[in-house]
Formats: sequence, structure tokens, C-alpha cells
Amino acid sequence: MNKTLFPQHGANMGQPVPRYEGRAKVTGEARYPSDVRLPRTAYAYLHISRIGRGTVQAFDLAAASAVPGVIDILTHETIGDQIKQTPAIYQGGYASDSFRPLGSAEIAYWGQPVAVVIAETYEAAREAAHRIGVTYGPHSPPAADMDSPDAVAQALVPMAIDVGDFDAAYAAAPIKIDARYSTPAQHQNPMELFATQCMWEGGRLVVHEPSQYVNSVKFGLAEQLGIDPERIRVISTYVGGAFGAKGFLTQRTALVAIAARRIGRPVKLVATREQGFTVSGYRAETRQHVQLAAEQDGRLIALKHEGWELTSRADTVAMGAVSMTTRLYACANIVGRVNAVSADRSTPGFMRAPGEMPYGFALETALDELSSKLDMDPVELRRVNDTRTEPVGGLPYTSRSLMRCFDEAAAAFGWQDRTRQPGSMRDGDWLVGWGCASAFYPTQAGNSAARVRLTADGRVHVSSAGHELGQGMYTMMAQVAAEELGVPIERVTVSLGDSDLPPAVVSGGSAATASVAPAVMAACDAIRRRLGVGNSPPAGVRAAMEASGMGVIEEFAETRAHGLPPESVRDMYRGKALPTGGVSLPDRVQFALGAQFVEVRVHALTHEIRVSRAVGAFAAGRIINPRTAHGQLIGGMIWGISSALHEHTEVDGRNASYINVNLADYLLPVNADIVDIQAIMVPEEDKLVNRAGVKGVGEIGVVGVAAAVSNAVFHATGRRLRDLPIRIEHVM
Ligand code: MOS
Repeated sequence: MNKTLFPQHGANMGQPVPRYEGRAKVTGEARYPSDVRLPRTAYAYLHISRIGRGTVQAFDLAAASAVPGVIDILTHETIGDQIKQTPAIYQGGYASDSFRPLGSAEIAYWGQPVAVVIAETYEAAREAAHRIGVTYGPHSPPAADMDSPDAVAQALVPMAIDVGDFDAAYAAAPIKIDARYSTPAQHQNPMELFATQCMWEGGRLVVHEPSQYVNSVKFGLAEQLGIDPERIRVISTYVGGAFGAKGFLTQRTALVAIAARRIGRPVKLVATREQGFTVSGYRAETRQHVQLAAEQDGRLIALKHEGWELTSRADTVAMGAVSMTTRLYACANIVGRVNAVSADRSTPGFMRAPGEMPYGFALETALDELSSKLDMDPVELRRVNDTRTEPVGGLPYTSRSLMRCFDEAAAAFGWQDRTRQPGSMRDGDWLVGWGCASAFYPTQAGNSAARVRLTADGRVHVSSAGHELGQGMYTMMAQVAAEELGVPIERVTVSLGDSDLPPAVVSGGSAATASVAPAVMAACDAIRRRLGVGNSPPAGVRAAMEASGMGVIEEFAETRAHGLPPESVRDMYRGKALPTGGVSLPDRVQFALGAQFVEVRVHALTHEIRVSRAVGAFAAGRIINPRTAHGQLIGGMIWGISSALHEHTEVDGRNASYINVNLADYLLPVNADIVDIQAIMVPEEDKLVNRAGVKGVGEIGVVGVAAAVSNAVFHATGRRLRDLPIRIEHVM
């Protein structure tokens, strides 16, 4: 990390404090959930379906049972109804899909768990799982994707947006763009696999599982097992990457929990990389249609954005980000439409900037097409359509620094040297192209609680069931408490990721810091009140503590996010604290915004496509720690390059299976693909969004990059590419 960028100094909010758990992570001391060693552990291995639709007619378990060390085999026949149905989050429940684990003989998607082997060793469990014989009933080919004849499209009427008269305005407009785009299925592929360890202790179940929401797992699992939630504890001290894939309860957890109960021993499951493709949700493929109409000066007259997203038969899941793409620019005539297309696939879910990435790709590419048709600089096109008020509901932005981001990123990038004509910036055999796009992410928060303890020796302990996903949650919570109580950060310790701690929001939607920091602040307020120092400078806390003669003060606080009703606090205590904000508020809209600029080089002879430079500038309210925020932002930008040029989960049309289910065939950028990347944090103060003034940076970095790349490829080659990922064959 660049020393001049982050000089060492104080620990207060806004300072680049080194990672709280950094030493533990680099020394291997940090225990991820699968690292926890439990006595007499048995090992579980999943056997997953090899058809995409049908039924299990019979199992032949003889060969599997004969493998030395096999203890138990779970199938829908052997477990009966030990696991109860629990609704998916899309129906207000806890689960990431509505398939009951080993619920019946029915196969609804390729990769569905159909059996689980429990054995003395991982190797024995794996061997036995491979020896399970499954006879499938007669089955017809599944619908693998949107083109399958029996995929079923359904318009999601509540997501429709209609403002003004799009048809009339579009028909009469002088300049128009009408284009179709597509984005592929993608999988989060966190480095840490989907692991679960379960142990029953005196009627209480302890679950070690990487999670973005330990309380949701606790309450959902209690429903599935039919036991009191207070008999379940879920621990997730560290998470080795989540990106939405570890957000909610998946089928594996209940399977491991009942296996541990059946054999009276701890059971450990680490699903394989391949199985991980269907253990949790994924970014579903989309198709999109964008129509834009503008005046000669670039002002938008009409905008229509319609999306189709793949989903499973059982769950209607759609990210539907037309709710955002229709609110970014001034325009009087707007239509937004969202459609879900059901096929025989596992239920999709959330993946970093779930809707913003694909929908932002389409809108921001269409805007570039418009700028090109107008022969107008694409930055200027955004400027003439900049607005302080979103055009759908007429609500004000709490703050909006989009054009400051464009100006700072453009200056850092050297945009003024761009020549407009496609193909005009050649460098030897390389066709050079420069492109840009807006980045956006809704500012959200959810109800959260925290406990803060101050001891007479000036030490502080912060605890909350928020989660460390790698984003720096431990560090940020320590900074907040250090600042609020005026103690050196070395004196602050933090506990997170345990359902026995004060409940917090799901660590998703870029809302974790914006939600938990206010709770920590409120607990610190309570401590200051106890000491009679009110909201005076925190330097007085230490002296007041000494004078008070108290050995310890401990305070608990819960905070309710703007836009949530009082009764929503109850939901927090039931594992249902979800973030809100963005475009869901009655009085305002809240967005973090940014500008992405990239340089691509396309080789004139081999057509190889490289991203040689990327500059992003982001305004996201208060940055509690620029070091961890910088990591989030460049990580997002790299993922954007990955989305633009590499990632694509390939679906086999014959059985609706995923083909490239490993990190060799699922293409990702390596260091050689990421040359020069710069993230600029544009100062922004927004006192409305939440008490901490935080908008969140977990997801915005990925948004807009793919459009900037495709726009740069157009600038380099004159080829307009509307389907991701962009590969050599598309520029030949
Ligand atoms: Mo994120 S995709 O909201 O974990």
C-alpha cells in the first residue's frame, strides 16, 4: 500500500487505520468457520442431482454403505420430514430458495442435493458419495435458459414505472437509440468454500458457518428444525469472501444439523467448488432493451428500460434495477419494465451490485451510443442530464456528486486528450480506446444493535452481530468507538459474527457500516450520558470514568434506519433486519455515485483485448477508513473488468447444468490482466443518510466498469458490443 497515500496518524474516523484482524489473517491465526476443530468430528459429502428436472425413482446405497467409515446416509427416504419447510426471503422468510432440503423425490434443478454421506473421514464420505446409485424416473429435457421453449416469462407488474408519455415523446424525438443488451449468468466464487460445521451440546446447536447474516441463519434453521431459536447459536468470526452468496440460509445447513443430531457427533461439510455453483444463489443472466430519445443538445426526452431475468420455477427472483436506471438522469417520459423468466434452474440470488451491474451496463452503454450519435462528449451528455431531483417521483437526492466524480476522474485519466473518432488513437499495432460510464449504488441501512463496554483502565469493547466479510468491519467499528469515547484505537477490541451478540442487519446491500456504526455511536452516547459528559468532546470520558469510581460501564443501543417503522425493530430480533433506502423512501432518494474511465487496447492483428488503465472516482458520503474503502473500490473495479471480459457461467442446454464449475474454466482476471487501476474518493458530506454520514462502498466499484469497457472497445474499433462478456471473437 502506498505510504504517501496513507500516512500513519491518528485512529479517528476518516483515517487509514490498518486492518484490525490483519495480523491474525496473515499469520493464519484467524479461524474461519471450517478451521474450527471440534472433538470427534464426522465428515459430510453431498451427492447432487445429475439431471435438471425429474424424480428420483430409487437409490442403491449398498456400495456406498460398504465403504469403510461410513456412518450414515441421508436421503429424502431416510430423513422423512425431519426438516420442515421454511419460506424463502422473497416470501418474507429466511431461506435463499424455497426448496425443502431432501424434501421429496422431485428434482427441480441440476446440482440439487439428493443425498448426504456422513463418514469418519472426508475421503470416505467422498468415496461413498460417488458410489451412491440413483435411478431417475423418466424425465424430459429441462428448460435450461431463456431460449428454452418451456421457459415461462412473466411481467412483474409491481416493478413497472410509467412517467409522462413515453410513446408519444419517443415517436416525435429527433435523436433515438433502440438497442438490446445481454449479460450472462455469473457465480460469486468466494475463495472460501461453502462450509458448515454443526455440534449439539446439551440440547443446544452451535453452527460454524461463513455468513453475511448469522441471525437469519439462526431463526430460519430453528423453523426448519422445529426448535426454539434460542437453542441455536451461529458463529461466523471471519468470512473468506461472500459477495451475496453467503447472505441467507441455504439447504446445506439443516442437512448438517440433523446429521450431527442423528449421529450424536459434530459434523463438518465443505461443499466442493463445483457444488458451490448450486449451493447458493448466483447472478442470473439478463436480456435488456433500452430506448432513448434526446434533443440535439443531448437532453433526454424519453427513456425506456426493460429487463428479463432468469429465475427458477420455485422462486420469482428479479433484481429489477430499472427502479434505479430510470432515476439517474433528468427525463420527462419514462417507462421501466421487469420480467422474470422461469426455467429449470437453481434459484438465483445476490451477487455484488446484483441489479446495478447488469442494468447499469445496458443504460450506460446506451448513453454512449447516444453521445456517439450526437457527436457529443459522453461526459458532457451526463452533464446536460444531471439532476438534483429524481424524475420518477420528483424526490430530491440527499446529495449528488456525480459530475464532481466525472471531473476528478476525467482529470486523473487525461480525458481531455481523447480524440473522438473511433479508431483514431492507434498505438502501433494496438487500437486504443477510451470509454467512460457512471457508477451508482443505492444508499441503504437497516436496524442494528451494539453493545459497548468501557472499563476503568480505559479499555473499550464493542460487540455486535455484524459481520467481517473482509471489508474491514472490525477496524471500522473500533474506529467509531475510539473516536466517540476518545480512547486510542489500540485500547479497543471488537466482537462480531455471533448470533449471541446484539443483532445487526444483514451484511449486504453495502449497508453494514451505515447500519452498525450508528448503533455503536448510540451505545457510546449512552456511556457518555452515564458519565454525565453528554456530547461534549470525548476527551472528557476518560477523566469522568476515573472520577466516577465505576469499574465498568456497559451500554446497549439499537438504532432504527430512516424509512423503517417502529415495529420493524421487532424484526431485527427475529433475524429479519434488511436494508432499505435508495429508491424505497417516501421523502428522498439516496445514492452513492461515481465515474468510471477505462483505456482498452485491442490488437489489430490478434484482436486480443486488454484493459490497460482504469480510473474510478466515487462519492459515497463519509469514508470511515480510506484504506479498507480503497480495497473495496479497486476490488469492485477489478470485478468490473472481470464482468466485461472474462466471467460467464456456461449452461449446458441438454441438462441445464453448469459446465465451467471450477476456477480454471470459470475465467477470472489474473494480475497480468490488471495493469493500472486507480480509485479516487471524492469528499462528500451527507448528514441525511444516517448519523454516521456513510453511504457505503461495498458494491459501487463494480458498477459501470463493463459499460466503460464496452464503450472503450467501440472507441478503439468502431464495434458496438452489447453482450457480455466481450471476447476476442466479438471484435474480429
Ligand atoms: Mo451484497 S450482493 O448485497 O452481499
